[in-house]
Amino acid sequence: KLPAPFQAELPIPPTKKPLRSDAKADYYQVVQRKASIEILPGLKTEIMGYDGLLPGPTFDVRSGRTTIIEQVNQLDVATVVHLHGGHTPAPSDGWPLDLIMPENGGHGGHHMMGDGDTTMGKRTYTYPNTQRAATLWYHDHTMDYTAPQVYRGLFGLHIIRDDEEDNLPLPKGDREIPLVIADRAFDADGSLLYPALPTGPGVEPKYMEGVIADVTLVNGAPWPVHEVDAVRYRLRILNASNARRYELAFDRPPATFVQIGSDGGLLDKPIDHASLVIAPAERFDVIVDFTQYQPGDEVTLINKLDGNANVMRFRIARKAVDDTRIPDKLSSYAVTPRPSGAVRREWRFRRGNAGDHRGWTINGKAFDPKVMQAQVPLDQYEIWTFVTDVHHPVHVHLAPFQVLSRGGSSKLSAYDHGWKDTVDIRPAEVVEVLVRFSAHKGKYLIHCHNLEHEDMAMMAGFETV
Ligand code: C2O
Ligand code: CU
Repeated sequence: KLPAPFQAELPIPPTKKPLRSDAKADYYQVVQRKASIEILPGLKTEIMGYDGLLPGPTFDVRSGRTTIIEQVNQLDVATVVHLHGGHTPAPSDGWPLDLIMPENGGHGGHHMMGDGDTTMGKRTYTYPNTQRAATLWYHDHTMDYTAPQVYRGLFGLHIIRDDEEDNLPLPKGDREIPLVIADRAFDADGSLLYPALPTGPGVEPKYMEGVIADVTLVNGAPWPVHEVDAVRYRLRILNASNARRYELAFDRPPATFVQIGSDGGLLDKPIDHASLVIAPAERFDVIVDFTQYQPGDEVTLINKLDGNANVMRFRIARKAVDDTRIPDKLSSYAVTPRPSGAVRREWRFRRGNAGDHRGWTINGKAFDPKVMQAQVPLDQYEIWTFVTDVHHPVHVHLAPFQVLSRGGSSKLSAYDHGWKDTVDIRPAEVVEVLVRFSAHKGKYLIHCHNLEHEDMAMMAGFETV
């Protein structure tokens, strides 16, 4: 009883408008609330959304210009907002116990006033956007409950632009399209199905590896269709799924993905991929060329990791003029050479028990908000080594990193290039990254972005000093 694919038009999340602007910043307000929306045809689905939307509204901001967002919590559970990929001061980074308690005075669901900096009803987040143009996203980060709350809709895009990128002859306007891919499961009445345990955090044991669902949403619509001109398009792809990895491909040549950017913005030069492996929380900024197709042609985006399952479809509407180009040199980004004598830290991501904790661990420990696993000096390069048992998409807050080696080889995977903030680590693999934090002292996080792993404690605090 799943809906037929390619019936829904691809929605484009609305761009959020500031309430006001001054010399210092742009000021916004977002209301986190329940909403009953039509995702599957003819059915209503209750979601938790930023402004009642799934995905939430898109922030479209300038590098170096401060964004100040008042987040109002009208839900019945505590929430936390994190700007993923943001170079954000610690008080605004979304520490998992810096809770926003519900405005209506509700009990906060599972959370009581905790050990963090809890606020009542609302909280103001300040994002200096002191970083290059990039596709970021924002999402819930509440301790133990990130997975169900993101699943129910608390995620959206935050796009930073700058002059370097604006000056490139890339597709723009309605030829620049965000694709936020997320799998979700629905009950017969349209309600979202999430296999939460009835009491306390975590999921039913059989979902220990992560929640994988049978409906693929793109920008909130199931297997949508989008009409395009026979020209080049820029797609900003985000995998907002809790646990699913994708290998995206087109079912019909010659379309490929010319990657121009990664999590942290433009690459130095484009990379052509026949298919695109994307783990949870990763972003790929790509150009897709439809100029070889004829009006009426249909090109389907499929997931090769799921038996070529449908993701969405592009329908070529008409021939059109295209004056865009993909420059050989995209940005002044330069690969930083491996420094000698850098401090090294190892982070081991493993299934395991720690005390009475059953779940996932980092360096044998379950997340404890009172414990900082490392004190990391600002402004120095460090080499961090990530070691896995099974697949773990590893994410570091505050600063992007460059992948130095994978599986003991400095020959990287095709998807490792550029500034990353999330790296897809495959089973029993070792990946080294080069990272350097700057500007902001405080408590930050490293964690697995498989959200069920994260909620089951595969997260660690570190402190920049
Ligand atoms: Cu996208 Cu700490 O998360
Ligand atoms: Cu994991």
